[in-house]
Amino acid sequence: MRVVMANDHGAVELAERLAGYLEGRGISVDWLGTKTADSVDYPDMAKLACSKYLEGGYDFGILCCGTGIGISISANKIHGIRCALPQNCYAAEKTKEHNHANFIAFGGRIDYPEDPVRILQAYIDAAPSTEGRHVNRIAKMMALEET
Ligand code: RB5
Repeated sequence: MRVVMANDHGAVELAERLAGYLEGRGISVDWLGTKTADSVDYPDMAKLACSKYLEGGYDFGILCCGTGIGISISANKIHGIRCALPQNCYAAEKTKEHNHANFIAFGGRIDYPEDPVRILQAYIDAAPSTEGRHVNRIAKMMALEET
């Protein structure tokens, strides 16, 4: 499994933790985000990771900023990206199953009800549903890119 990850200055520590978890699982991580507290712009970080993902060869991507909001909104402006911002393990599992989310976002300044590492784990361990109703909804969702 191969993952691309980027973050702004609001989530350096969280990005480090998530990368450590992935590496511990034997998952290869291309970490393109900032590793210092110096300010960078989250749309630039979203663009960096999403462009890399769209080149191919990645299973999914991870984006982190202070809240997870700015970077996920930015990612979702890019064709082909479905970036989820799950609030807990349940949502992380369901977004893989029902939305086929290809990116997962986190907020480094958010006090999560469950450990973000567990939330990431729930996303990774879930499988995309092939049930017709979910596949149809995803097709409708992606068609919105053309409107
Ligand atoms: C940066 O200070 C902050 O605005 C950013 O990390 C994020 O929270 C934006 O949504």
